[in-house]
Amino acid sequence: MSAIKNILLIGQNGQVTTYLQRALSGDEALKNLQLLVAGRDILDLSDVASIEPALEGISPDLIINPAAYTAVDLAEQEADAAFTINRDAVAVIAAYCAKSNTPLIHFSTDYVFAGDASEPYLESDETAPNGVYGQSKLEGENAILASAAPAIILRTAWVYSNHGKNFYKTMLSLAASRDQLSVVGDQVGAPTYAGSIADATKQLVALIVEQGGINEGQSGIYNFTCQGQTSWAEFAKAIFVENEITNITVNSIRTEEYPTPAKRPAFSVLDGEKLKQTFDISLPHWGTALAHCAAEIKVG
Ligand SMILES: NC(=O)c1ccc[n+]([C@@H]2O[C@H](COP(=O)([O-])OP(=O)(O)OC[C@H]3O[C@@H](n4cnc5c(N)ncnc54)[C@H](OP(=O)(O)O)[C@@H]3O)[C@@H](O)[C@H]2O)c1
Repeated sequence: MSAIKNILLIGQNGQVTTYLQRALSGDEALKNLQLLVAGRDILDLSDVASIEPALEGISPDLIINPAAYTAVDLAEQEADAAFTINRDAVAVIAAYCAKSNTPLIHFSTDYVFAGDASEPYLESDETAPNGVYGQSKLEGENAILASAAPAIILRTAWVYSNHGKNFYKTMLSLAASRDQLSVVGDQVGAPTYAGSIADATKQLVALIVEQGGINEGQSGIYNFTCQGQTSWAEFAKAIFVENEITNITVNSIRTEEYPTPAKRPAFSVLDGEKLKQTFDISLPHWGTALAHCAAEIKVG
């Protein structure tokens, strides 16, 4: 292991990338590190052949990859694009990390699971994605594990924030023009604020920097969501409460009443114990994180 001096963060305008960039550049303990935020002009994950030479040129000491093809429904039509970015590009990054012993933090998803469980999923539970997006992310995970790169894979879920396209912002914008909303009430998960992801990732980065890399036994998959669980309908109600919006009624509907091209897991709560036990890191309860997100917009 050697001193970590420069970090490559892949992706520029995504939710997690945006909050992570803010968190890492504002941190006193990490202020001596160089952070390169690579947009598509520097690293285009759809151009797989260009990735290794680009990484050789940058020569990062730590790579963080929240970039992904994330259009869950469109992926059903654009499978090639999803697999290129979520599997093939990730395999090249992992091979580079294995060869150069560069630590990698990579983000994955609860959509690797079928969603027919009734207890929170453990990292070791059987995967069975419902659609192309989940399958492509799972194959990205498998490519990293097969490469034997020093790598931490963070499975997150239901990501929202004040930035980009997400359920939180959609609810707020619909509330401006509607007094009734129908929202799916039979899918259960853990809404996870991108700000909470960034804070917890920053703690992980600080640990990796302090250790000079990822220690033996730390590589692998970790669940990485806010704590607790709720449905989309209950989450919508909580968003309105936090934002003091009272003139809207949320009607809870069944998944069959809101058909989507890609099937979603009915239950995708992830158990966060492994993250806590290994790194002493945990994300806040989803309700606490939601209050932070709502406060952020009021302040900003
Ligand atoms: N959103 C969710 O609800 C959710 C749930 C579970 C897991 N996750 C996972 O969490 C991670 C972060 O998600 P997010 O919500 O932050 O995603 P997001 O807001 O959709 O952002 C996706 C990022 O990927 C980048 N990207 C896409 N195609 C690229 C390409 N060809 N080359 C380079 N960069 C490319 C985008 O680049 P630009 O900046 O150029 O647009 C953007 O920065 C992803 O790995 C995702 O699979 C997300």
